[in-house]
Amino acid sequence: MTDLRTELDHLRSTAHERLATAGTVDEVDALRQELLGRAGRLTALLKQLGSIPAEERPAAGQAANEVRREIDSAIADRLAAMRAGDRETRIADETIDMSAPGRPVRVGHLHPVLTTMRDLREIFHAYGFEVFEGPEIETEEYNFELLNIPPDHPARDLWDTLYVAEPGSVEAGAPKPAADGTILRAHTSPAQIRAMRALDPPIRVLTPGRCFRYEAVDASHGFEFFQIEGLVVDRDTSLADLKGMLEEVARALYGRDVRTRFRPGYYPFTEPSVAFDIGCLVCGGAGCPACKRSGWMTILGAGMVHPVVLRGGGYDPDEFQGYAFGMGPDRMTMLRHGIGDIRLLFSADLRFVTQFAEGR
Ligand code: PHE
Repeated sequence: MTDLRTELDHLRSTAHERLATAGTVDEVDALRQELLGRAGRLTALLKQLGSIPAEERPAAGQAANEVRREIDSAIADRLAAMRAGDRETRIADETIDMSAPGRPVRVGHLHPVLTTMRDLREIFHAYGFEVFEGPEIETEEYNFELLNIPPDHPARDLWDTLYVAEPGSVEAGAPKPAADGTILRAHTSPAQIRAMRALDPPIRVLTPGRCFRYEAVDASHGFEFFQIEGLVVDRDTSLADLKGMLEEVARALYGRDVRTRFRPGYYPFTEPSVAFDIGCLVCGGAGCPACKRSGWMTILGAGMVHPVVLRGGGYDPDEFQGYAFGMGPDRMTMLRHGIGDIRLLFSADLRFVTQFAEGR
């Protein structure tokens, strides 16, 4: 027993001495193996336990365990001190190079549809138009009634409207449209009424913004899309003014050689109404899915503001006339770049969008 104790004391002091001089983590690890490892010196000492008298064994075993714990914690302390020392040396060695170039910040760019909308704003600015914003959340009154589309009028089917639900009706399992007529605007035309009510004549405004329709999505129809409404109210305007201006706008946007045509159209809030088409620039007029194989793409609807609408906006139709148009900048962008599918525009695929980085 005394022999064993002497050897344990010796082991303990060897451990402290060698730890104090160990310079690297590897050295400490090797020392741990040598003293405490399976084939180490402590294990060898424990093997002698069998040869001492049985009544002395528990005390001897306890003494051996204490030595193991002591050496273990001395090793842990030494390793912690080494790591702290490393960190201090690293910090002391660090310098800041003020002349190093900064990390480049990735700057985004405008989406091609926004570029088109900005360009249109600039083109129309030359004709005296300014921007007048309208809300995306509208009422049926502004979206329909004041635009000469009474409830139950079949023309409502032209706008597959998204209704805001009556509070509680969805939870009750029986969704129904809000009683106050709140909807998502199906077009930007409600802004015609808002502009007439807010501004004094002559009025020349553009209302850009998102619109929402419950549409079957295909190559040329989105669920959520942009429109830009145009409205002119004055004492002496005509369809000829509208046509001349739109042809110039098409040339400014697509170049002098663009092919255009007006077709008769129907909208309850304009009379007469027209549709304005551009020769499809995706296929060059040969016919493709984007132009529904017709060779033409409709980029806007337009017409002379209906007397009922003028009255709803607070104007006397005998005194004032106006024209209005609703453009589709998504399609106008497709034509500009030869994009064959409207779904690409808002697919959030950077490989697609970054192709238009040269836009402003
Ligand atoms: N609001 C119409 C639509 O969404 C377009 C339009 C606007 C037509 C203004 C005539 C005048 O289809």
